[in-house]
Amino acid sequence: MRTQLLHYLCCPHTRQPLTAIDFCSGSQFTAEVAVETDAEIEHGVLTADRRHAYPIWNGIPRVLPSGLRSFPAFTERFRDELARCNMDLADQNRTASRGTSVAVKKQFERQWAWWGCEEKLYGRTPDEWEELLRNGYIGANFQGDCFDGQCVLDAGCGHGVFSRALARMGAHVIAVDFGNGIEVARDNCRDHPSIDFVQADILHLPIAGRPFDLVYCHGVLPFVPSPESGFVSLANVTNIGGYLRIWVYPRGGTIWEATQNLLRGVLSRLPSRVLYYLCFVPVPLLSIVQTYSNTSLATSTWRQCAQVVWDYYSSPIQWHFTPEAVAAWFRESGFGEVDFLPIPISALGKKTEANRRESKIQQC
Ligand SMILES: C[S@@+](CC[C@H](N)C(=O)[O-])C[C@H]1O[C@@H](n2cnc3c(N)ncnc32)[C@H](O)[C@@H]1O
Repeated sequence: MRTQLLHYLCCPHTRQPLTAIDFCSGSQFTAEVAVETDAEIEHGVLTADRRHAYPIWNGIPRVLPSGLRSFPAFTERFRDELARCNMDLADQNRTASRGTSVAVKKQFERQWAWWGCEEKLYGRTPDEWEELLRNGYIGANFQGDCFDGQCVLDAGCGHGVFSRALARMGAHVIAVDFGNGIEVARDNCRDHPSIDFVQADILHLPIAGRPFDLVYCHGVLPFVPSPESGFVSLANVTNIGGYLRIWVYPRGGTIWEATQNLLRGVLSRLPSRVLYYLCFVPVPLLSIVQTYSNTSLATSTWRQCAQVVWDYYSSPIQWHFTPEAVAAWFRESGFGEVDFLPIPISALGKKTEANRRESKIQQC
């Protein structure tokens, strides 16, 4: 973790600034000190106060609401270092994650462990995704190297393909995902120093103020237990005059929705290895039943196609939306100009005023 990231981070509970302690050197860094000395921390801890501490592990800050408690392997391995910092697990806050959230997180962690290094994901190579982004996929005004000097949040970065593309378009990217797959994303983007990775939940973003010129959230809100709260949380960190771009899954007809929910309810409960192999069964059908990303055997391998099936059926929740519902989210969160883009449902809004519901949502 680059210590300069401390400028952007805060405790997701108290909103206080965080102090970083490097286990290797014993040095402490506050956001002010970090301006002068941009150091790298591989293993350490971020603290707001005695009750709220978060690991820095393998170079990534892990700022999940349940703090150290979410990382028993870390607290075990660094027991002595934590004791030297007077950090006792018994003092730590007892926020527990919701069961559905835990299940969604696990399924995506498996997905990125199994498929995160594939040459093509969702039907395209990283270069092909970049090409798409450079040519208006985010919105007509965002083309070429349009993000020079801008700060962009990739919310729910997955395997990191969009973080990479946004960084290559000139942005300083903060890439956030709540799963351990964040390590796969970091490895996939190794050659891009302008990306900082943070393991965090978009419902409890550990971000101070509203630093982002663009918040990019692609295919993530459908998996959040309360998507509207997720949207408000993203709106809260979008700068006034900045943009929020989301892509969510469109709502189908009643019969389609009912059968898919039933199927997902059954499949998401299967042992993960069984579901992995089952995901290969419908692959030939992908050229008849179009997927969101148009992935099929014409463009991808069997294994790459099976990832798209896993993505669609493995998670116990998946919300689908109407354009009206999405338009209302933007309107109610202080976005003036909202454009719906050709791929349903992609929408881009420009933040014109502070979010009226900000104070209510920011509390964990
Ligand atoms: C369908 S994938 C999309 C990944 C990436 N945005 C893309 O389009 O390639 C959804 C991602 O959202 C992440 N995610 C889901 N709920 C989240 C939450 N509450 N906070 C942070 N990340 C979340 C998952 O771990 C997963 O990596």
